[in-house]
Amino acid sequence: MKRLSGKHILLGITGGIAAYKAADLARRLREHGAEVRVVMTNGAKEFITPLTLQAVSGNPIHDDLLDTAAEAAMGHIELARWADAAVIAPASADSIARLAQGRADDLLTTLCLATPATILVAPAMNQQMWRDAATQQNIANLQQQGKIILGPAEGEQACGDVGPGRMLEPNDIAIAVAEQFQHQALTGKRVLITAGPTQEAIDPVRYLSNHSSGKMGFALATAAVEAGALVTLIAGPVAEQTPERVTRIDVVSAQQMLDNVIDNISGQDIFISVAAVADYRVAEVATHKIKKSADEMTLSFVKNPDILTEVCQRGDKPFVVGFAAETDNLIEHAKDKLIRKGCDMIVANDVAKQAQGFGSDDNAVTVVTTDAIQDIPLANKQQIARTLIETIAKAIKES
Ligand code: C5P
Repeated sequence: MKRLSGKHILLGITGGIAAYKAADLARRLREHGAEVRVVMTNGAKEFITPLTLQAVSGNPIHDDLLDTAAEAAMGHIELARWADAAVIAPASADSIARLAQGRADDLLTTLCLATPATILVAPAMNQQMWRDAATQQNIANLQQQGKIILGPAEGEQACGDVGPGRMLEPNDIAIAVAEQFQHQALTGKRVLITAGPTQEAIDPVRYLSNHSSGKMGFALATAAVEAGALVTLIAGPVAEQTPERVTRIDVVSAQQMLDNVIDNISGQDIFISVAAVADYRVAEVATHKIKKSADEMTLSFVKNPDILTEVCQRGDKPFVVGFAAETDNLIEHAKDKLIRKGCDMIVANDVAKQAQGFGSDDNAVTVVTTDAIQDIPLANKQQIARTLIETIAKAIKES
């Protein structure tokens, strides 16, 4: 399996002789399945050309914080949110010092402050510069800030010295990046997820549906697999690709979704109900296409079964997580759903906001349980999914 499949990796390159290896790193990351965007400092461009990095990453490089054209295409905040992880390789002594101080006077340092993603730093410098107390203090500060230091390796250096300060080999860095996405929080657990919209037929050619894209549910399936779970995903009609190692069942209507949930629920440890299930279906589906004639027409609806409630009422009820897409009184509605439906957790999101929710790549959610409310701020749906999976795993451990 490609361990970085679908992951967005920001590769920061700073000025040092090891910058020539960054091109190989970009390739390795892509071989592992990642989409790579490269940020170069001015120093980096003295060692390797932007054209090389553009060619190997498959994307235009980013190098200027104050360039209006670049900001219009993919602004620095957007880029910071896009990233699932950022890796700085090589990281020079100067860039390490500037990161440790939290500077934001070029694109790379600004992105490091603006991204919620994990930042990995692969130092590369002369052995004496690495051993210097100031560098060691800066490294300790970075570790304290939660950044991950990769290496450095020991050996012969470009300047002729021998000692610590060589950048780790590109493939070892790529593997370390991939390892960030694997954890054991749900090892051996079975997880059932519903995702996407449902379609309720009106006649053989028409249906009622909603704007759900399935992105959040699919991101949760990926995050659950990365956490070691066995995942079954019941999906309404969506354009998303099936995540690796996920068993997918495609359905169309709410009734089909319910039938498949019931068929698969026993033995599950966790049920995550992300699907935007139609609340009503047409009472009588026409067997032939309804012809255009009268100026007005009326359809009669009946209520669909509530899948989440049905699962919560079972004797073998797993840990149940529901979603609440709301346009007003978010927390109030979420609390009400938690109690009324009998879930263990509700993930509430405000779908009235343009940059998040239905169809968008980003989301911001609030996790509501009987005794806590936790905000997960705006980030891409993959990051939100990983945080949610960790939150669910923690709640199960404590329950
Ligand atoms: O009550 P409301 O439909 O807003 O609740 C949303 C939650 O209920 C979501 O988790 C959704 O997947 C689930 N749901 C369901 N079956 C329905 C309607 C909603 O499982 N028929």
